[in-house]
Amino acid sequence: MSKTIAVIPGDGIGPEIMKATLRVLDAIDCGLSYDVVEAGMIALDKQGDLLPKATLDAIAKHKVALKGPLTTPIGGGFTSINVTLRRHFDLYANVRPAISFPGTKARYENIDIITVRENTEGAYLAEGQTLSDDGETATSIIRNTRRGSTRIVRYAFEMAVKKGRKKITAVHKANIMKTSSGLFLNVAREVAKEYPQIEFNEMIVDNTCMQLVMRPEQFDVIVTTNLFGDIISDLCAGLVGGLGLAPGDNIGADAAIFEAVHGSAPDIAGKGIANPCALLLAAADMLDHLGMVEKGSKIRQAIRDTMEHDRAHVTPDLGGKGSTESFGEAIAKRVLAA
Ligand code: NAI
Ligand code: MG
Repeated sequence: MSKTIAVIPGDGIGPEIMKATLRVLDAIDCGLSYDVVEAGMIALDKQGDLLPKATLDAIAKHKVALKGPLTTPIGGGFTSINVTLRRHFDLYANVRPAISFPGTKARYENIDIITVRENTEGAYLAEGQTLSDDGETATSIIRNTRRGSTRIVRYAFEMAVKKGRKKITAVHKANIMKTSSGLFLNVAREVAKEYPQIEFNEMIVDNTCMQLVMRPEQFDVIVTTNLFGDIISDLCAGLVGGLGLAPGDNIGADAAIFEAVHGSAPDIAGKGIANPCALLLAAADMLDHLGMVEKGSKIRQAIRDTMEHDRAHVTPDLGGKGSTESFGEAIAKRVLAA
């Protein structure tokens, strides 16, 4: 297969983890070519624009992008580049897998939960945040639409069918937020009827948090609205050992951007010790998305095997003494040998 993707190395540790990730993608021989474009501070410095048009054009053209973390400068009125990208391409589904890997300090060993979070509406509407003139009253609007709820729930069910998942839990707070969360829940119930082969259940968000901490093995796929999904997906990342292993896929009808959940980690940038696995797991999800499911699984297995058997090469955040490069190289070797 021959396919070109947009590659955005990004800021801080971005170029380091991207290099290790592309090394593994090349090793697995997936036939991808890379159109490398800039965004973030590096783009601002070199091109005078945080998000150059050429970068947007490349994503639109190739429809798939692999993206390193981007630093949005604080102050100066810049909107987050990530939020801008999600809006521009209407990337309505934020898919966040949390999978257990060996050799982490995680509390559980057999977790495999995918959170599907609505990414465009809910409590995160920019225009929905207001403060009264006297500064005494702050209001924020939560707006869920039937269209937005339907497409996210349908995405979750279609993904479950494709990936052979068994169960979907719709997470809500319809008992209190009767209109916004109620609409989402009603839509989830309706859509669920179309997929009798997938077990459907519903759970109130606060109970979900407790259940995730106490009995995470009961969850398979979670689908939920924007704010709840933001919180729950980080909770799930914590269950499997934190941000170093958390990929985030942003999917729309016309484009998809795959990235690590973590940021540009300025505290360790340039030291060569960043863990490349979150971006690499995002790349594995990207291969799934491109129909190369076996190769995606191969990458995950190689990460698992490296973490279990090549402890010397694992990065310090996972308790090893390795570097970004040695970790990536060890994973690439396992991919080549598989
Ligand atoms: P961060 O995720 O960059 O760092 C938090 C902590 O986790 C730091 O101690 C860092 O060293 C560590 N860490 C993160 N990724 C790691 C990795 N791969 N290996 C080892 N350790 C890792 O979050 P922070 O400091 O809040 O944000 C820094 C910058 O990143 C900000 O400018 C922020 O806007 C941006 N950011 C960008 C995101 C994106 O592009 N998707 C997401 C989150 C933040
Ligand atoms: Mg978040």
